[in-house]
Amino acid sequence: MKFNQSNIKKAKNYLDKNYCIGVPTETVYGLAANAYSNHAVKKIFKLKKRPPSNPLIVHYCNINDLKKDCLINKDFLKLYKKFSPGPITYILNLAKNSKISKIVTNKKNNLAVRFPKHRVFRKLLTKLNYPLAAPSANISTKLSAVQASDVREDFGNKIKYILDGGKCNIGIESTIIDLRNKPNVLRLGGLEVSKIEKILGKKITININPKKKIAPGQLHLHYSPGIPLRMNIKKPKKDEAYLLLKKKKNYRPNYFYLSKKNNLKEAAKNLYSLLRKIKHKGYKSIAVEKIQNIGIGQSINDRLKRASRFQ
Ligand code: TXA
Ligand code: MG
Repeated sequence: MKFNQSNIKKAKNYLDKNYCIGVPTETVYGLAANAYSNHAVKKIFKLKKRPPSNPLIVHYCNINDLKKDCLINKDFLKLYKKFSPGPITYILNLAKNSKISKIVTNKKNNLAVRFPKHRVFRKLLTKLNYPLAAPSANISTKLSAVQASDVREDFGNKIKYILDGGKCNIGIESTIIDLRNKPNVLRLGGLEVSKIEKILGKKITININPKKKIAPGQLHLHYSPGIPLRMNIKKPKKDEAYLLLKKKKNYRPNYFYLSKKNNLKEAAKNLYSLLRKIKHKGYKSIAVEKIQNIGIGQSINDRLKRASRFQ
């Protein structure tokens, strides 16, 4: 992995000067800026072409840092102890004297917070005296970035620096859970809901397609490679790229494998980079084999379903 102390120092310097930079996380790359600075976070919205109504996730190193900005509760503590740092984002109420920029939350009194696990990102956070607002490092509605070169492809020289931490291990965004009242999942992601239920000892509601959109991860079209995509396909059309869950005996040049042997975790890790690869190869459409709707397969199907709405 390409990383050393001087890279962390460079990243810190840019962030201290209120620039946005690319950062690696275990889920997907983030486009990060100082969450306490209006000036810095405004740049994130502009770069991503993100509507100001769509709030940002703020990344902390640990619970002590978080306590200055948010109110915590019992459910949060249980989940934090078990799953953080890791691929879960919590929605909590803001504390009265929180320093989080109002632009991050679109003036609402709640905040999405996450404790990333990637060791390079953690190292960076320990050097800063502010948390980092970081949405996924891609143009709004497009494919997320899972390696430094993906970030460069979307933003080119518009961003000053990308902290390279290699390829993301999980490859799909964090699971978002609203913990302000009864736990409610707003986005399926890298952590399976059944694991969360086990720790909380209760069933939790999943509200990923509400009539009134709460999180724009719930947007109709999202995570799109920019070409039509069809799901649950047994036989692709002649010129179509075919995305499969496991290797087939009869290999064809238009076949792309998410995993070697039907492994859903491996499939999640490869999902965005394969979709990007297919697009680069010039295919005009993508057919995807049926993917089991269990465990992280549910998160993969969620992303594919939203991507399939491209016309
Ligand atoms: O894995 C991840 O979560 C990545 C990495 C970089 O941490 N981040 C990420 O951020 O996926 P983003 O902005 O692409 O997606 C965050 C989602 C958006 O759909 C946003 O609307 C929702 O979280 N969100 C942010 N703040 C919220 C809040 N206060 N209440 C409800 N939803 C919120
Ligand atoms: Mg995103």
